[in-house]
Amino acid sequence: MKIMVINGPNLNMLGIREPNHYGRETYTDLVKKIQSYADEKGVEVTFRQSNHEGDLVDFIQSAYGNFDGIVINPGAYTHTSIAILDAARAASVPCVEVHISDVNAREEFRRVSYIRAACLATVSGKGTDGYLEGIDILKKHCEENQ
Ligand code: DQA
Repeated sequence: MKIMVINGPNLNMLGIREPNHYGRETYTDLVKKIQSYADEKGVEVTFRQSNHEGDLVDFIQSAYGNFDGIVINPGAYTHTSIAILDAARAASVPCVEVHISDVNAREEFRRVSYIRAACLATVSGKGTDGYLEGIDILKKHCEENQ
């Protein structure tokens, strides 16, 4: 099973940016943590990160026919990007939306998620463990739909 883990803008700044919301783990720590969890579960993971909306669209499109699932934290584009929603629908690869912070407990504008409509599930407010839960959800979905 192959999963693409996509992180959007400012997630490369993990460990530095607003630790009260996002903790002290760096992006490199996050990648290592997901990689070792995926190894344990026998899942192949590929990581992508960009600060640019079009790159995120390209990553999602590239998963078509090549990946069994996508774990995506689109960062602030969650709340603005119809293009990312459309890409997820176009690629029709099962997606799980992940947010490190609890987006429903913050500013009103963070409650809106465009990509949610194309996702199997949303995991929010569980810190970086949310990505691991995203992998579990996709693995279960894949096993049930073989
Ligand atoms: C985030 C929440 C978003 O509102 C924010 O813009 C981010 C990170 C999260 O992981 O909690 O960049 O997606």
